Amino acid sequence: MQTRAHTHIYLYTHFCVLMCVFCGAFMQHWRTQLKHTFVFILGAAAILFIYLMNCYEEPAGSDPGPYHVAYPRNYRFIMDNTSTCRSTTPFLVLMVPVAPGDAAARDLIRQTWGGESLVLGRRVETVFVTGLPGGGDAERTQRELRRESRRHGDLIQSDFRDSYHNLTIKTMVMLEWLAERCRRSAFAVKVDSDVLLHVRNLVALLLEPGTARRNYVSGLVWWHSPVVRNPFVRFYMPRAVIAQSEYPPYPLGMAYVMSLDLPARILEVSPLIRPIYIEDAYLGMCLQRLGVTPTDPPRGDMFLVAPRHPLTSCSLSKVVAVTTTSPSQMRSYWERSREDVHC
Ligand SMILES: *[C@@H]1O[C@H](CO)[C@@H](O)[C@H](O)[C@H]1NC(C)=O
Ligand SMILES: *[C@@H]1O[C@H](CO)[C@@H](O)[C@H](O)[C@H]1NC(C)=O
Repeated sequence: MQTRAHTHIYLYTHFCVLMCVFCGAFMQHWRTQLKHTFVFILGAAAILFIYLMNCYEEPAGSDPGPYHVAYPRNYRFIMDNTSTCRSTTPFLVLMVPVAPGDAAARDLIRQTWGGESLVLGRRVETVFVTGLPGGGDAERTQRELRRESRRHGDLIQSDFRDSYHNLTIKTMVMLEWLAERCRRSAFAVKVDSDVLLHVRNLVALLLEPGTARRNYVSGLVWWHSPVVRNPFVRFYMPRAVIAQSEYPPYPLGMAYVMSLDLPARILEVSPLIRPIYIEDAYLGMCLQRLGVTPTDPPRGDMFLVAPRHPLTSCSLSKVVAVTTTSPSQMRSYWERSREDVHC
């Protein structure tokens, strides 16, 4: 089961050794002719390596390997002590995937945009989604998480191992929870914990007559996201995993909103598509199978990813979601976003 990961490490190691050998030789014989030869050989080796990585096929098995995630559909919620969608029917549910140990991020969100419960006359509730903590202090983190859940009643925890690589699992269990619990609610938004959500602007957008109540997904839609084929670049995907050169359109993972008919339907088609670890691209693959196309927000300045900070009060007043670079920036943006600005 370890062979796939090992083959990768093996390929990388060999490539690095090759580079070092060439570089060493190159340093010793600093002559133009040799330089050209070595540059040529180096280039050829890189091209061969990229070619090999792209042809390299994942054998089927239980280990998901580096590009897929284990989503056997039998993860269970071991903590689910929120009244959201149980004794309440919010109009909008704010789902915030967050690392188990990141209590600081949860507190900040509770104190800022996650703490608003009635917005433009609509009920809005926040739920934090986590998996199992790992590492040496996992037990302590788990104890603290239970205490936090008792105190705030806004946490759900599934029994998969929480890690960056497992984000797709987090999204899928979040959809399972929404499908089971929140069918009577209208919308849910998935928001990363470093994002400032302008809840009032989002509710206003959802209440607009032009916003569909079914088959609706919106956010910062990537219409033609190329599949990365260079193994040295983040989000690399070999051809053997994704044959197409572009992902289907998908809303960027930092914040996307959907009508609550969709979670159950996405879960229906997801067994047909093997989950990759890039959660938003995987969502796009499921949506394509469903025949659901994401909707662009009415204006281009509503979902901002890594904009030039600081935002002007005018930009802040129009935004629905924007990535922030620090907790203090999140707090100050939230405070400023509550001011009345006319521009
Ligand atoms: C769940 O909430 C109830 C009351 O709100 C509390 O008594 C109980 O201890 C909580 N359980 C957990 C696991 O947090
Ligand atoms: C992802 O979650 C599964 C299920 O808990 C676990 O077996 C696996 O080790 C996790 N992967 C990573 C990279 O954390």
